[in-house]
Amino acid sequence: AKAGEAEKQGRKSASTSHQTSSSRELIDTSPPRGTRDFDPQDMRLRSWLFGHWEVVSRQCGFEQVDFPVVENEELFVRKAGEEITSQLYNFEDKGQRRLALRPELTPSLARLVLKKAKSLPLPAKWWTIGQCWRYERMTRGRRREHYQWNCDIIGLEGVAAEAELLAAITLFFQRVGITPADVGIKVNSRKSLQAVLTQAGVPEDSFAAVCVVVDKIEKLPREKVLEELAGVGVADTAAEKIMAAMGTRSLDDLAQLLGSDNEAVSDLRRLFQLAEAYGMADWLAFDASVVRGLSYYTGIVFEGFDKQGVLRAICGGGRYDGLLGALGGENQPMCGFGFGDAVIMELLQDRGLLPDLGHEVDDLVLALDEDLRPQASGIAQQLRKKGRRVDLVLEGGRRMKWAFKHAERINAQQLVLVGQEEWAEGKVRVKNLGTREQEDMSVEALIHSLTLSK
Ligand code: HAM
Repeated sequence: AKAGEAEKQGRKSASTSHQTSSSRELIDTSPPRGTRDFDPQDMRLRSWLFGHWEVVSRQCGFEQVDFPVVENEELFVRKAGEEITSQLYNFEDKGQRRLALRPELTPSLARLVLKKAKSLPLPAKWWTIGQCWRYERMTRGRRREHYQWNCDIIGLEGVAAEAELLAAITLFFQRVGITPADVGIKVNSRKSLQAVLTQAGVPEDSFAAVCVVVDKIEKLPREKVLEELAGVGVADTAAEKIMAAMGTRSLDDLAQLLGSDNEAVSDLRRLFQLAEAYGMADWLAFDASVVRGLSYYTGIVFEGFDKQGVLRAICGGGRYDGLLGALGGENQPMCGFGFGDAVIMELLQDRGLLPDLGHEVDDLVLALDEDLRPQASGIAQQLRKKGRRVDLVLEGGRRMKWAFKHAERINAQQLVLVGQEEWAEGKVRVKNLGTREQEDMSVEALIHSLTLSK
């Protein structure tokens, strides 16, 4: 009893000294607005999602790449009036360099392609997952940081590349249980806009800015759009024609408007034909109103959306054959997509498709006597070397009852108890937590049984 009292006293004084050492007020424990913590449960779900992205990327033959989260600001500076540019997290570092947290991965990918120049065997297929930062107005599924899965194909003209990207996206949807009843992908080509602008004599270098304005057609009143179009050099008659092209309902209508030999029309027809062959046509639909808000797209563009219409875009991408040129390099045909983690998680949750994931451990090892801690530690390490996931109870004084409860909480399959009596005979007690059977065995026999059960 005395020892117990002393222990309590000790604890008390320890906690008092702890309190006095923190004289300041508790800090704000929320992360900055729009950013997230990932506790173990959130992290399990995130790893689950990233795992699917990784598997699909590899199934489709993409190679993994990575870039820094901080880049030179100039990489993201574009003059077409895109929203993304105004949302940049930018700053000056201690060496007076203008830097920015990346709002997307594509400029970094382009930079790496330029850096590798002729040494990069083409075509190349690259995938990556990275955190992106945008100072956004927050809505459901839109945050100030998000993770994005990107797949890009470098050095391939023609829509076979776009079809392959869409194949990766639909494979992913299928893996996680999403069907074409939940999600669709709208597909269009910016070349239809290009054709209208060329016919109307609008200079080619206005194209990017025009696309950024046209992207706002659904969000802004018509007069405002016409005003902005005039601002980037598009006369009223051309603007009307753009609106007409954006309003077409089918590829046949588009062909009628632009002529069936128009490149946008033939690209889209070819893409839908390939989609049939991939068995993914159910997911896709031509939608003339999709232009996308990033200035660098030049051809096919596409966007994943939820069919209930409550969430923002699930993913988006397209062809950007002019980006390397805009960064001062030699152009290369390129296309790709970005797929964020936030909206898809909302959708999966709404549809009840998120898995119930627990901590995953194979073995829990417990020394029933503190004197046996070295033995228990050695056993845990041997098991780990055999590839088992092992949690070793590190705190002293834990009893068997606690160990059972803990083993259940961490989903352990096996409990390895190191007790005086068994150890005296060179054995440990092994409890199978599924069958509740137990057996005393030597450590060699335990390790051997694992090799057999593999
Ligand atoms: P984006 O449409 O700006 O394209 O973003 C792609 C996806 O990232 C969106 O569809 C969405 O899933 C996610 N996303 C974007 N912003 C946020 C945000 N604030 N919060 C949560 N999720 C967000 C691009 O970024 C292009 N770089 C994609 C690309 C790659 N194009 C060619 N290659």
